[in-house]
Amino acid sequence: LKIGILGTGGVGRTLAAKFASTGNEVMIGTRNVEDTLSKTNPDAMGTPPFKEWQKQNQQVKLGTFAEAAKFGEVILLATFGDVTKNAIDLAGKDNFSNKIVVDSTNPLDFSKGVPPGFTVTLGNSLGEQIQNHIPGAKVVKAFNSIGAHIMVSPKREEGDPDFFIAGNDEEAKKKISDIAKSWGWQGVVDLGNISMSYWLETLAMIWIYYGFKYNSWTQAFKLLKK
Ligand SMILES: NC(=O)c1ccc[n+]([C@@H]2O[C@H](COP(=O)([O-])OP(=O)(O)OC[C@H]3O[C@@H](n4cnc5c(N)ncnc54)[C@H](OP(=O)(O)O)[C@@H]3O)[C@@H](O)[C@H]2O)c1
Repeated sequence: LKIGILGTGGVGRTLAAKFASTGNEVMIGTRNVEDTLSKTNPDAMGTPPFKEWQKQNQQVKLGTFAEAAKFGEVILLATFGDVTKNAIDLAGKDNFSNKIVVDSTNPLDFSKGVPPGFTVTLGNSLGEQIQNHIPGAKVVKAFNSIGAHIMVSPKREEGDPDFFIAGNDEEAKKKISDIAKSWGWQGVVDLGNISMSYWLETLAMIWIYYGFKYNSWTQAFKLLKK
């Protein structure tokens, strides 16, 4: 598959490396290629400069948001939550038509520090906003409720967590679930259509709040049935 990724942060890079190492062609997109390549210091989250990361991941191409979106048969959204619609506009909405668009974003507000605030309300989740913004795309909310390192390495010491998804297109959800299973995810919890994104975004808040309260970043979720 050709995978286009919008976002050069921890999520974009982690998933880019995983897709590339599992037989896919990957282009990761940024607002300004030169700026991204010229950074020499880690960002506030400690993510190393892109150029350093690229040395170990030479098979991942770097382009603009538009180039990455055009390139991708499947597009992953991995931008800071509230700017995602802006990133889509920069990438060109037409480049998303009829494609599977995986939305890993969360509606976080760091303006008052950490833990972050939550910027959406019921019925207006980021997943829904994004699907409404690109109605011709098949948006699948996935990967958002766990840390980037867990997305590609799900097995925990305490067992196998579930892969939580939502979206309107059944085939798109199956395709992304199949990819996740090939990465080691066992159970899939399909919550339903894209409006269920709201609950996946709140699930991410549980992960984040628990993380800050206990300085714990390895947890993941499982739905247990009798
Ligand atoms: N980090 C995690 O473990 C984790 C886990 C689950 C979900 N998430 C969610 O996944 C998304 C990505 O998280 P992240 O930590 O990888 O990266 P991030 O720091 O939240 O976002 C990085 C990306 O956002 C883009 N961006 C920033 N401001 C922008 C603007 N005004 N317009 C367009 N694009 C802009 C940046 O573009 P440039 O490349 O041009 O700078 C960069 O590529 C977020 O929504 C986050 O909440 C993160």
